[in-house]
Amino acid sequence: MFVDSHAHLNHPKFAYDWRKVLEKAKEVEIAAVINIGYDIPSSEMAVKQCNEVEGENLPKLFASIAIHPHNAKEQGAEVARRIRQLANHPFVVAIGETGLDFHYGFSPKECQIRAFEEQLELAYELGLPLVLHIREAHSEAINVIRNFGKTVIGVAHCFTGTWDEAKKWLELGFYIGIAGIVTFESKAENIKEVAEKVPIDKLLIETDAPYLAPVPYRGKRNEPAYLVRVASAIAELKGVSITKIADATTQNAIKLFRIEIP
Ligand code: NI
Repeated sequence: MFVDSHAHLNHPKFAYDWRKVLEKAKEVEIAAVINIGYDIPSSEMAVKQCNEVEGENLPKLFASIAIHPHNAKEQGAEVARRIRQLANHPFVVAIGETGLDFHYGFSPKECQIRAFEEQLELAYELGLPLVLHIREAHSEAINVIRNFGKTVIGVAHCFTGTWDEAKKWLELGFYIGIAGIVTFESKAENIKEVAEKVPIDKLLIETDAPYLAPVPYRGKRNEPAYLVRVASAIAELKGVSITKIADATTQNAIKLFRIEIP
């Protein structure tokens, strides 16, 4: 069985068929999906979807809630209050995706850093792991966490940095999340190197659906069922069986998110 450690079933692209998408995932042994919020409506939706499928014969659904760095400029006191309120819901297993994205710069750097710091504090207070989106800001994000000074753990999701940057996250105790880019034929050398070298007990796998569909679905809407492609690409790079990747990454997700999977 597999755990999709990062998907957005709360995204409008799944508005009409997210249950079907979960049924399809069940058929290929996806046992659980972490449904990731990126603003207030999507965080609320993530929690609502968990409630809706509870007890059904579908993959277990859990929620992670936060304000994405792209949306950091929206994070005023009211937004912070709502996130804090939602975070107490029993289906919420992480704070994220939060972090820093200096590639797109949809929100000013200072806003991103402030929103990130607030969400670090929240994760620490509630004892929840972090789901981090970091793009072209690895050293800055690591500095923010070091300056924060208190111990937090989490995952650097959809990792696209270098192996040297990955090592810094590993030193901090973070997991590395590998997504469908690892299956791409070009512009994926860094990710392939990281996937090959990251210790198997620090590896998580994810789809980031609806984005980044793996080969041979590249360009289409991604979905949790395609996680198997990510796992098999990593298994090949590491020279181990797909079962070994499935077992290890499922155990890692259980440990990090403190979830129970039947
Ligand atoms: Ni995402």
